[in-house]
Amino acid sequence: MDLKKKFLIGYAVAAVVALLAFQYAFWSNGFSYLEKQSEAGYLTQAEMLRDILLAEMAKDADQTEALEEFAGRYGEKYGIRITIIDEEGNVLGESGGPGPALSNHLDREEVRKALAGESNSIIRRSATFGLDYCYCAVPLTAGGFRGVIRTAIPMEELRNMDDEFLRSTLFAAAILLLLVLSLVMYFRKYVSAMKAVEKQRREFVSNVTHELKTPLTSIRGFVETLKNGAIEDVDCAGRFLDIIDIETERLGNLIDDTLLLSEIENKKDVRQEPCDVNEVIGEVTELLAPRVKPHVRLIFTPDPGVRPFTCNRDRLKQLLINLVDNGLKATEFGAVTIVCKSTASHLILEISDTGIGMEAEQTERIFERFYRVDKGRSRAQGGTGLGLSIVKHIAELYRGSIRVESKLGEGSTFRVELPYF
Ligand SMILES: Nc1ncnc2c1ncn2[C@@H]1O[C@H](COP(=O)(O)OP(=O)(O)OP(=O)(O)O)[C@@H](O)[C@H]1O
Ligand SMILES: [Mg+2]
Repeated sequence: MDLKKKFLIGYAVAAVVALLAFQYAFWSNGFSYLEKQSEAGYLTQAEMLRDILLAEMAKDADQTEALEEFAGRYGEKYGIRITIIDEEGNVLGESGGPGPALSNHLDREEVRKALAGESNSIIRRSATFGLDYCYCAVPLTAGGFRGVIRTAIPMEELRNMDDEFLRSTLFAAAILLLLVLSLVMYFRKYVSAMKAVEKQRREFVSNVTHELKTPLTSIRGFVETLKNGAIEDVDCAGRFLDIIDIETERLGNLIDDTLLLSEIENKKDVRQEPCDVNEVIGEVTELLAPRVKPHVRLIFTPDPGVRPFTCNRDRLKQLLINLVDNGLKATEFGAVTIVCKSTASHLILEISDTGIGMEAEQTERIFERFYRVDKGRSRAQGGTGLGLSIVKHIAELYRGSIRVESKLGEGSTFRVELPYF
């Protein structure tokens, strides 16, 4: 793992941990406030129960039975445990029946404090039930009786809330961490993609410069030779001027192709219309007819089943011209055949030739800008090496694809698939 990646991941983890710590500290404060508030409320409730009990005891003579009945009645009513304990620690009344709680209660801290005259509350684990309870003990003095009324409210729900919060916070943190990590990954991918684009652009500029320089150097060389006297020799001057003419045309082609590529790359494609593809291919074959060599046939049989394709007509034409032109350039004997058909979802264009073909590793590279299998031959034919790159870009502009099958010495087939939708 490189240092930058380590740093980014470390940063992401630290940010999530800090957020988690802050969140937990915030919650802990809130939770202990909630717990204190509940404890205070429970104590008030216990004191009110004591007052009610005192009022009832004033009326009723049989105290023991009244205590038992009071604890049961109010315990059920409020869903809490109520225990009434005398000054020796004996349980005189307990909601939910005697049960295991009938042992002496003098060892309970809250009971001892209440017997000493202090209303108090405490949250602790119940020795009888093994759960956390909030115990509120209030002194109870009526007539000859001296004891304690104690309520016990289970804290499980509140505690569960705390656990639940911790669980959900950890879960949220894990998701956050995943999210941050995937963002980091995405960012890294984005940066390396940008770097690749930048590298491609730099290479392109240096290639263009080189390609522009070659014909310019040649033009200057011939002009120089003409100026130095060759202009006097009419034959020689004529040949040199022809070369200058060809080189100037090549310069023009290169500039046109470069502009076209950048236009397609910028997705400047405003004029889209349904195109009759058979008609466009007809125009292309007519345009390229003068380039067909004597022992080569350019074959195209229109298929009436081809559906119109919505695109920029000029772009479609450029794509076809480049592919057919390549086929014609590569073929000395045989034919260059154009097949066009519509499937349910795609427009299929197939341009095949019986020309020189190429080797497998070359088919992988021919779509690169300026790549030419045989540089000298391509140059001699006026090629810029941008043709197939333009074709690929046009195909991709319409969300399509292009692939090639070729055999050295036998010929090549280029297949373009353009989706209708
Ligand atoms: N049908 C084909 N048969 C054999 N080789 C081909 C064929 N089409 C393309 N190539 C090879 O791929 C190279 C790249 O083609 P591309 O069309 O990009 O450039 P070009 O034809 O040299 O120049 P341009 O098309 O700009 O005039 C060609 O130089 C040629 O070597
Ligand atoms: Mg070409």
